[in-house]
Amino acid sequence: MILITGGAGYIGSHTVINFIKNGYEVVVFDNLENGHQETIDTLQNIGNVKFEKGDLRNIEDIEKVFNKYKIDAVIHFAAFALVGESVENPSKYYRNNVFGTLNLVDTMVKHNVKKIVFSSTCATYGEPQYTPIDENHPQNPINPYGNTKLCVEYILKDYDIAYDLKSIRLRYFNVAGCDKQTRLGEWHEPETHLIPNILKSTLGKNKTFKIFGNDYDTPDGTCIRDYVNVEDLAEAHRLAYLYLNENNKSDVFNLGTEQGDSVKKVFDTCEKVLDKKIPVEVVNKRAGDPAKLYANANKAKDILKWKPERSLEDSIKSAYTWECKQIQEGK
Ligand code: UFG
Repeated sequence: MILITGGAGYIGSHTVINFIKNGYEVVVFDNLENGHQETIDTLQNIGNVKFEKGDLRNIEDIEKVFNKYKIDAVIHFAAFALVGESVENPSKYYRNNVFGTLNLVDTMVKHNVKKIVFSSTCATYGEPQYTPIDENHPQNPINPYGNTKLCVEYILKDYDIAYDLKSIRLRYFNVAGCDKQTRLGEWHEPETHLIPNILKSTLGKNKTFKIFGNDYDTPDGTCIRDYVNVEDLAEAHRLAYLYLNENNKSDVFNLGTEQGDSVKKVFDTCEKVLDKKIPVEVVNKRAGDPAKLYANANKAKDILKWKPERSLEDSIKSAYTWECKQIQEGK
């Protein structure tokens, strides 16, 4: 049985589908603070997924799950992930992302479960010193969210040495798109991410999409990011799990497409894919946005044999179908 924490969230739920499609038994643990019961219902309609509602900040909640199921490995997504909120309320982030993870890994060690795949982030690198960013790039996060993820990376390294807990730390770049069958999608409240915000502008009345700054040191003046498709990302988690099983060795991998796309390019691609004009205006820069972030993901390709297959257009098309469905359902 694979335990997927945060399996009712965006990336977690897509990973649950990938694992059940590949024949694994899965139990999802989620407090439904940001995840959705409806996502759990969808997953349970697709396959045999167990669900345990609980919060990692209460060690008894997670202890119960390890007592109830025979867990072979953990895929750990459960975390808060809004950079701005983490600056305003670091306590919330350290309590959940760090203290919650400590409860999880201590329970794993207690129950002799020694394999974990962890959702880390390119935010642990901070302001890039060079691009593309490889795994050896110095890690100097510039916000509490990145700090909490880096803390967990340190915890995992130390737990490997002390308790033989093997981990794969996956550092994601920007995640986009959704399940091709539109059963799941990106569903954040509030939504802060680029692609859903562009798409919501075209679907909502009198909404104008806001570009945060166009005087960055990039060819068109807007920020460059690396948009990796969520289904490709989900597959990387399964490959990481297989790698852990075969090699029993901790490691770290960047997950990105290695292609940097500017905000303007993403916006233009949305207009092209949708074949319509989207209302847009340029506003002030958002605090803490580095100009350029894109991955060198050679290591994941070479070692995990990961092949990201879906393009930015694919991600935009699937995200658009999802947004339309949400609106039809009155969400
Ligand atoms: N952007 C806009 N308008 C919007 C939303 C975003 O112009 O309405 C711009 C941002 O300024 C940024 C780019 O689009 O330049 C991407 O922004 P997102 O909010 O979609 O993503 P981020 O790059 O800020 O954040 C992502 C993850 C975080 C992670 C971070 C690492 O969502 O979890 O990468 O830098 F921490």
